[in-house]
Amino acid sequence: NKIVLAYSGGLDTSTIIPWLKEHYDCKVYAFAADVGQGEDELTGIHEKAIASGAEDCVVVDLKQAFIEEIIYPTLKTGAVYEDGYLLGTALARPIIAKAMVDYALSIGADALSHGCTGKGNDQVRFETVFNQFAPQLKVIAPWREWDLKSREDCLDYLAERKIPCSASVEKIYSRDANLWHISHEGGELEDPWQAPSQKVWTWTVSVDDAPNQAQDVELEFQQGELIAVDGVALNPLECINLLNEIGSKHGVGRLDIVENRLVGMKSRGCYETPGGTLMLTGLLGLEQLVYDRDALFLREKLGLEFARLLYDGKWFTATAKAILLATNSLAQRLSGKVVVKVYKGHAQVTQRQSDNSLYAESFATFGEDEVYQQSHAEGFIRLFSLSGRIQALKASGGIK
Ligand code: ARG
Ligand code: SIN
Repeated sequence: NKIVLAYSGGLDTSTIIPWLKEHYDCKVYAFAADVGQGEDELTGIHEKAIASGAEDCVVVDLKQAFIEEIIYPTLKTGAVYEDGYLLGTALARPIIAKAMVDYALSIGADALSHGCTGKGNDQVRFETVFNQFAPQLKVIAPWREWDLKSREDCLDYLAERKIPCSASVEKIYSRDANLWHISHEGGELEDPWQAPSQKVWTWTVSVDDAPNQAQDVELEFQQGELIAVDGVALNPLECINLLNEIGSKHGVGRLDIVENRLVGMKSRGCYETPGGTLMLTGLLGLEQLVYDRDALFLREKLGLEFARLLYDGKWFTATAKAILLATNSLAQRLSGKVVVKVYKGHAQVTQRQSDNSLYAESFATFGEDEVYQQSHAEGFIRLFSLSGRIQALKASGGIK
């Protein structure tokens, strides 16, 4: 009996290993994905898993696939959930879950397990992918089954079994980190009237500590994909690493939001997406030059729809694929440069340029021009507003 567990090295998943062995008479294989959560979580993770009783622990590096195959395509949809959340956790779950299924199938596992609670979005995101790619495998979600209620319970559980664990009772927040974002939930944040304390934020500096000097960052996009920063060509992973560095230094990308979870309840989260905020801001600036009204309107609608699909764990669906194809098609013209000025938590586009720009100074100028006949506007407006005119004339008896 083999069970593959989505393992982070944290207290919850460390407790799940012995718990699974006791309750399912199985061998546990720990699976961890490197999605850029950082060395803190990954160093020593193999030893930790073995010490907790795992048969083996594999770490799969998904960083490059995550940025190239998930984040870059998604950016072209402009997906933002509930007006602010750049979907950092939601973006990572499908690729982690898929890699986990691949691993489970390769070792002939019988079941999949994870440490998500029964109250959140992540359980849905993981299991949606499990069910789609390996419906024959059993899914075990200990938090929905066991009677452990708290960190204390988990620590006691491990202590009783003499399983070493370096975690402490004192861990206030539930966090999820990757190369795109870090999320913080729980603790005082559960009260929406409580402002986040300084302990919440772990990545970006506060506005008070951000440099007093603004920084201009030049971003070059090719067909909707960032290919160079400040004139230096970089691969996607290098791009996001550099923008994270710049953004976090200037306190860019903090969000404090009350959001609607898929399972119905509202939850309060604080998110840090420094590089992502810079990248998206730049791309939207370029869209302004390149997309006409219809294209932009469509992209906005598709972005809204895509954000919801992603949030709900539906990356691997025909609908998601269709939206990605459509927005990628629009983005074929999305090449050019923008300058984003970052200062004290703000990121603002101040310069834009593109060979595909539809902006024509000769038309737009408030000064004299030779190309636009203002008298044409009169007829346009008469027809544009014709139905309203007819209604008014009828109402006043002007026409029959
Ligand atoms: N609320 C966010 C989301 O649903 C963040 C979830 C964070 N997950 C976690 N296991 N800490 O995407
Ligand atoms: C969890 O409940 O495991 C984390 C939060 C979420 O999934 O929304």
